[in-house]
Amino acid sequence: MPDYRIAPSILSADFARLGDELRAVIAAGADWIHFDVMDNHYVPNLSFGPMVCRALRPHAARADGTPVPIDVHLMVQPVDALAQAFAEAGADWISFHPDASIHVDRTLQLIRAAGCKAGLVFNPAAPVDLLEWVLDKVDLVLLMSVNPGFGGQGFIDSALRKAERVRRLIDASGRDIRLEVDGGIKVDNIRRVADAGADTFVAGSAVFGQPDYRTVINAMRAELARG
Ligand code: DX5
Ligand code: ZN
Repeated sequence: MPDYRIAPSILSADFARLGDELRAVIAAGADWIHFDVMDNHYVPNLSFGPMVCRALRPHAARADGTPVPIDVHLMVQPVDALAQAFAEAGADWISFHPDASIHVDRTLQLIRAAGCKAGLVFNPAAPVDLLEWVLDKVDLVLLMSVNPGFGGQGFIDSALRKAERVRRLIDASGRDIRLEVDGGIKVDNIRRVADAGADTFVAGSAVFGQPDYRTVINAMRAELARG
């Protein structure tokens, strides 16, 4: 079985109690914390920035103090200055949309030079061709299965075919690159997403929309183990 990761998106958490929400979802079994950054420019919504990431960094830890990775998904344009600011604010993974950066290769280098893992995000209608030219500088590919900007939208099925294609590309490269899918993932479709080749799963409303986070995360893991 692949080394699956479940990354709850705190976009659907209670913003009035974000630190507590992080601790609760980590205690419930979250592997990563997915941090959706929206700028009201690249996407028509506004969420939180590097200062909030810095404030939450100490809360992204297990009970024994082990840090839990913060997975920053930048839906911002331009990218570089904010990527740098998130690296300084304690992010572990930083992903951006290539169409939001004029020099994609340079932005990837900047993220790695700042000590973080670098990811590229592809919208539902975006081709993934440019991956061929930067695969050696990418640690994660994030495929959107909704249009970015809001939680709680329905899963777009073409993301499954795209995941199959990117999985083949990653495997052929022999590189250690995670394949993450984001948007509309629930207990009843996570298995299909895994079958398409994903190893990392973002879930916002599916987790935070339920009273008991552990029940949802356990049910997702049971689906993943069923393969
Ligand atoms: C959408 C965000 C997602 C979102 C997922 O722009 O990138 O991470 O929070 O939310 P759900 O799981 O509710 O679709
Ligand atoms: Zn996201």
